[in-house]
Amino acid sequence: MSEGRVLVVDDQQSIRKLVCMHLTKAGFEAFDAVDGNDGLAKATEMVPDLIISDLMMPGMDGIELCKRLKADTRLREVFFIMLTAKSRTEDKIKGFGSGADDYMTKPFNHQELLARVQSAMRIRNLQKELTKLGEIKDEFLGIAAHDLRTPLTVIKGWCDLFNEEMLGALNDEQKEAVDGITQQVKLMLNLINDLLDVTKIESGKVELNLGQCKIQDVVAQHERSYALLASKKNITLKTEFGNDMPSVNLDKERISQVLNNLLSNAFKFSPEGSSITMASVKSGDFIEISVVDTGIGIPEEAMHKMFQKFSQAGHRAPGGEKGTGLGLAIAKKLVKLHGGRVWVESKEGKGSTFTFSLPIEGPQDLPEMEEAAVSSEAE
Ligand SMILES: Nc1ncnc2c1ncn2[C@@H]1O[C@H](COP(=O)(O)OP(=O)(O)OP(=O)(O)O)[C@@H](O)[C@H]1O
Ligand SMILES: [Mg+2]
Repeated sequence: MSEGRVLVVDDQQSIRKLVCMHLTKAGFEAFDAVDGNDGLAKATEMVPDLIISDLMMPGMDGIELCKRLKADTRLREVFFIMLTAKSRTEDKIKGFGSGADDYMTKPFNHQELLARVQSAMRIRNLQKELTKLGEIKDEFLGIAAHDLRTPLTVIKGWCDLFNEEMLGALNDEQKEAVDGITQQVKLMLNLINDLLDVTKIESGKVELNLGQCKIQDVVAQHERSYALLASKKNITLKTEFGNDMPSVNLDKERISQVLNNLLSNAFKFSPEGSSITMASVKSGDFIEISVVDTGIGIPEEAMHKMFQKFSQAGHRAPGGEKGTGLGLAIAKKLVKLHGGRVWVESKEGKGSTFTFSLPIEGPQDLPEMEEAAVSSEAE
């Protein structure tokens, strides 16, 4: 059995041959490519475990090749060793900056090269194991959440029957008890639905149901459904739209979910008497939708954790409402699936503005690189 698949990228034939020969002798499957472009094409086709690439090459150099590979979700995990004649520290830093995992200078000692390749392969194998464990965890979570949902739905059904007094009249104490059970069951169902959503999106199982949609309609629907809560909390809910808002190619249900997650936060983290605005404008080939609140805001040090699962890095809700810290993580993933991005601006004590953008034409087949570039803002 092979020790692993290694792609050697170098414009010098003698180096390619030499490295491949040493690797083959040591039990690896070795492949070669003549420059960055050839390397990228071959890596995309065969997905090796490890790439050993020269830095200076005509056309696409090693730095660019490494950047492209690390921006592609399929190839991101491939271990990358940069091989070069340069030994200056700044060249090494540049190499690592592009995402290289290790560095070797030419002329190289073949035993050192093999030792590094073997150590890289150990890391690669551990990574693979970790990915597999992650998949098992997601599958387990999916099954557990799914199996919990069914009995909870039945319990909620019974609660509804009691609440509607279909099973006989209830006294005040009994009403309060049934109400308490109903609230808790609803919380658990929301949590389970969120967990299922995250698992589904993370395992790439969410398919967008795209169609032309006016964002004003989605916003208006939310304005209606939040009217009661707004009046209860004495919050003024406003909408603002730019001129010439186009129809957008989107999944209405999923974008409603995004807006709902942002809006429910705005209500949760705003005191009585404040105001919330849902605003939308066209910006180039995108539309941007913002939920602006004048609530408690987010501490500076928590800002970078906002979109992480379960983080709840900001303040607690002043009204004591509970949550699980999945709303923003789900919103980020759904927006990303549409080819958009999401970001937040906030000042503690003054309020927060959460904005997401959506491409008017709908999700294109974006190169993975752009996907990676946008995610950092919401990281
Ligand atoms: N509009 C906001 N104003 C102030 N803090 C916010 C706002 N939106 C989110 N946060 C902070 O970010 C955290 C994460 O939000 P997120 O929506 O992911 O989770 P949650 O609301 O706590 O729970 P869930 O949405 O899963 O019910 C919140 O717990 C809160 O600390
Ligand atoms: Mg939330």
